[in-house]
Amino acid sequence: MMKTALTASLGWIDARFPLTKMWNEHLAEYYAPKNFNFWYYFGSLALMVLVIQILTGVFLTMNYKPDAAAAFASVEYIMRDVEWGWLIRYLHSTGASFFFITVYLHMFRGVMYGSYRKPRELVWVIGMLIYLCLMAEAFLGYLLPWGQMSYWGAQVIISLYGAIPYIGEPLSVWIRGDYVISDVTLNRFFAYHVISVPIILLALVVVHILALHHTGIGSNNPDGIEIKKQPKNEKGWYLDGIPFHPYYTVKDIFGVVVFLIIFCGIIFYAPEFGGYFLEHANFVPANPMQTPEHIAPLWFFTPFYAILRAVPDKFLGVIAMFAAVGIWFVLPWLDRSPVKSIRYKSPIFKAILALFVISFLALCYLGMQSATPILTNFARGFSVIYFAFFLLMPFYSTWGQCKPVPERVTS
Ligand code: HEM
Repeated sequence: MMKTALTASLGWIDARFPLTKMWNEHLAEYYAPKNFNFWYYFGSLALMVLVIQILTGVFLTMNYKPDAAAAFASVEYIMRDVEWGWLIRYLHSTGASFFFITVYLHMFRGVMYGSYRKPRELVWVIGMLIYLCLMAEAFLGYLLPWGQMSYWGAQVIISLYGAIPYIGEPLSVWIRGDYVISDVTLNRFFAYHVISVPIILLALVVVHILALHHTGIGSNNPDGIEIKKQPKNEKGWYLDGIPFHPYYTVKDIFGVVVFLIIFCGIIFYAPEFGGYFLEHANFVPANPMQTPEHIAPLWFFTPFYAILRAVPDKFLGVIAMFAAVGIWFVLPWLDRSPVKSIRYKSPIFKAILALFVISFLALCYLGMQSATPILTNFARGFSVIYFAFFLLMPFYSTWGQCKPVPERVTS
């Protein structure tokens, strides 16, 4: 009785909206390679963090006041007086760092298995647009608690635009809406953080997944084999493909559980994470008359901050910083290796990728430290390796002996 009622309701909806068609296209009849590994958890995890950020963001907005005279106190009010306010805030602040952890691992997976290469170039480029939005969202959100680091971090970064010849100064005043960071800046940052950027982010994520699921494309895998070029078996599945639902929905739920255990562990026992997720200086209200001794962005921006400081000229430093992010967009056209996955690439490629990862982590560390002459020289060396990884890729990706790629995926 119940079942017939449900089937009838579904039929009624399907006659008016392609619900079953969408379910089949993206889940029940979406065939994914059967050899997904650990690295394939992070797309769905990023999706979950996005949902957490939006939900907690809505509840924070109910008690937050985007007013320079009230913002800091409203956050303290959320932490102390609003029922469960501390949890909502820590979910959101820890969620920001976890968003970057999942997205960096998700991107690294793409680099390892050559997921950015034909026919998935657009999936990658859209992913990069998502990454830009994410950076903008984190930067805008960080001003809102109106602590010392919120204020001075925004002051430093927006002043960078002043280094651009001719238009620099008017441009930075236009962005701030004032000659210094002020209530005007806070109001517009709030509007962008809460409305504009999340809408763009959501739209891009939908396009990202649609581009991946487009006919004939679908997910890459740790072997870099195109399963959609394989024949189908008697069930209509590609030889190395399995339906996303139920196989990967169940696998992803396992990933979600492990993720939530770690996430909750940090929220309940180390929400500031030693100053890495919430900086100590941000527990002091913004004071435009007093610059903090040491200004550094949160960890996910520090590789780029280290590159900025490594260049002696301010304007060139700004260009290098933007180039360090922008260069990821053209990655699909830099890699000329005959194989996709790191499993079959030459030892030269593997060694250079390892060197790049070390440089990225080193720049992340160096960007958090005060810039002493010795550390600055290290940052210069690692910045050179960072750019060389991309700029020399068209050459070294063709060097050395690749392993033969098998016909079928390996388990
Ligand atoms: C909010 C952030 C993001 C979300 C929610 C997201 C979501 C997803 C999902 C659900 C998938 C399919 C499952 C999987 O392969 O893991 C995927 C695949 C992919 N994403 Fe993202 N993504 C995000 C950001 C990015 C970024 C920043 C990049 C790179 C610049 C990127 C590049 C890719 C690539 C290349 C694939 C195909 C991977 C493969 O098939 O091997 N994504 N993404």
